[in-house]
Amino acid sequence: MTEATTRLTRRPEWRALQAHRSELEQRPMRALFQEDPQRFQRFSTEAAGLFLDYSKNRITSATLPLLSALARACGLPQRIEDLFSGATLNNTEHRPVLHTALRSPATADVRVAGHNIIPDIQATLDHMESFVTRIHNGDCKGFSGQPIRDVVSIGIGGSYLGPRMVTDALKPFSREGICCHYVANIDGTDISEVLAQIQPETTLFLVQSKSFSTQETLANSEVARDWLVQAGATGQDLPMQFAAVTSKPEAAIRFGVHKDHIFPMWDWVGGRYSLWSAIGLPIALTLGMAHFRELLDGAHAMDKHFRSAPLEQNLPVIMALLGVWNVNFWGASSHAIITYDEYLQALPAHLQQLDMESNGKRVTRDGQDVEYHTGPVIWGGVGANGQHAYHQLLHQGTLLIPVDFIIPMRTHNPVARHHETLFANCLSQSQALMQGKTLAEARAELMADGLSAPDADWLAPHKVIPGNKPSNTLTFDQTTPAAIGALIALYEHRTFVQGIVWNLNSFDQWGVELGKQLGKPIMAQLAGESGTEGVDASTAGLIERFRKG
Ligand code: F6P
Repeated sequence: MTEATTRLTRRPEWRALQAHRSELEQRPMRALFQEDPQRFQRFSTEAAGLFLDYSKNRITSATLPLLSALARACGLPQRIEDLFSGATLNNTEHRPVLHTALRSPATADVRVAGHNIIPDIQATLDHMESFVTRIHNGDCKGFSGQPIRDVVSIGIGGSYLGPRMVTDALKPFSREGICCHYVANIDGTDISEVLAQIQPETTLFLVQSKSFSTQETLANSEVARDWLVQAGATGQDLPMQFAAVTSKPEAAIRFGVHKDHIFPMWDWVGGRYSLWSAIGLPIALTLGMAHFRELLDGAHAMDKHFRSAPLEQNLPVIMALLGVWNVNFWGASSHAIITYDEYLQALPAHLQQLDMESNGKRVTRDGQDVEYHTGPVIWGGVGANGQHAYHQLLHQGTLLIPVDFIIPMRTHNPVARHHETLFANCLSQSQALMQGKTLAEARAELMADGLSAPDADWLAPHKVIPGNKPSNTLTFDQTTPAAIGALIALYEHRTFVQGIVWNLNSFDQWGVELGKQLGKPIMAQLAGESGTEGVDASTAGLIERFRKG
C-alpha cells in the first residue's frame, strides 16, 4: 500500500462525495420518493436468493457511482481478487484469508504457498461426515457403552457465535436424537447449567479452539474432563468422549483427545469466519451433513456474485458503500440489525463480532492513524419486540442509526395472520423511519382528534418524527440453510469491502490481547500470590474487595 492510498479523505472521490452530501442535505428521502416513482425498482437488487431494497437511503442516482468511484480508487476490484486467490491480506500476521475456499466446490484450485488447499478442505468435510454419521447412527459410545446423545461445544468468540447462531436459525431442520449444547463463558453458571441437563455416559465434549490456548475454553474443558472422571470415566475412556477442532492438534492430544477425533483449523481461517470449517461441527451434528453442505453452497453462491458482479450491482458492495456513506458522510456511529424472524435472534451477536472485531481499528494497514471513522457499533435484536423498546430512539433520538431489516417471505410456523402482521410491522418501521411526521402533520392530527388549537400547539412538537433515517430491507423466501449461508457471506463481504475502503487489516484483532495479558497478573493478585504494588488504585481497590470476599 502506498502513502497515497492511506490519505482517503484527500482523494478527489472523497471530496466529490462531500459535495454530493451537501446537495442532498436539503432533499429528504420523503421528497426523493415523491419525485421518483421508480425509486424502488431503481434501488433494489437481488443475488443468491437474497433481495435487497436500499431505496430508503439518502441517495440519488448519482450516489452509488460516486461511492463506487471511491471504492475503485481504493483498489477494491483487485482486492476482491486478492481475497479469493489467497494474497496475504492479513498483513500483520502474514496470512492469506481464505474462508471462501471452505465453501468452494471440490473442483476448485486455491493455493497457499503453492499447495492446493481444496483437497484438505474436502478431506475434512469427509472426516466430519463420517464422525457425524457415527454419532447419528449411535456408533459413538460413552464410557458405559451407551450411544452419545448430547454434544457440548466448548468454545468462545468465533468458535461459538457462528455455530450457535446457525443452529438456532435453522432449528426447523434439526434432527431428532442428538442435542447440541454450548458453553462459552468463564462464568461458572454457563457450564453448570449445561451439565445439569445431561448425563456423563452419553455426552461428548467438542473443544472448539483454533489456538487451543483460550483461557475460557481450556478452563471449561478441564471442568468437563473432571466431571466425566467423577462419574466413572477412566483415562482410557476420556479420549473418545472428547473431540477437538484446532490448528494445534498436539495440544489437543496432550489434553487427552483421541487423534481420530481431531479436526483441523488452518491459519488462513480467522475465528469469526470459521463456521464454514470443522468449527461448524455443531451445525452438522444438529442439522445433518446434507444441510451443512447446503449452507456452504448458499455462501458459495454469494461468493460467486461478489467476485463477478459489477460494483454498482454487487449486493455486498452496495451494502458496504451505503455503510461508508452513513458513517463517514452522515455521522452514523452505530448500525442496527433487526431481524423479523425469531429464529434469527442470534444473528446480531454474530454480526457484531464479525464486524466489530474486523473493522474496529484505528490505524491503516501500514500503521498510520486513520483520519476518519471506521467500523460503527453493531447491535440489534428481534422485531417486532424492539418496536416496544429501543425503536423510540431510532425514531426520535438525536443519534443517526441506520438499520438493516431482515425478514423471510415465508415462515416455518404459519399461525393465524401472524406472519402478515409481522411483515406489516417490519414495513411500517422502515416507512416511519424514512418519512417521519412533520410539525404540521402532528398538529393537524391532534386537531382532528379534538384538541384545542393551543393544546395541539403545545403537544405537537413531542409528536414530530424527523424521518429521513436510512434503512435497508433484506428479504428471502424462507429461513433455509442456503439462505442463511448467503446471508452470512453477504455480511462477511460487506465487512471486507468497508475494510478495503478504510484501508484496514480486517483480519487481525490485537485490541483483544491487552485484556488477556493483564488478566494473568490480576489472577495472581486475586489469589494473593502477588501484591498490588504499582497497580492503579481502582484495580487494586477492587482486588482488595474481592479478596475480602
Ligand atoms: O479473543 C478473541 C478471539 O481471539 C476471537 O478472534 C476468536 O474467535 C476467539 O478469541 C476464540 O479463539 P480460539 O478459537 O483460538 O479459542
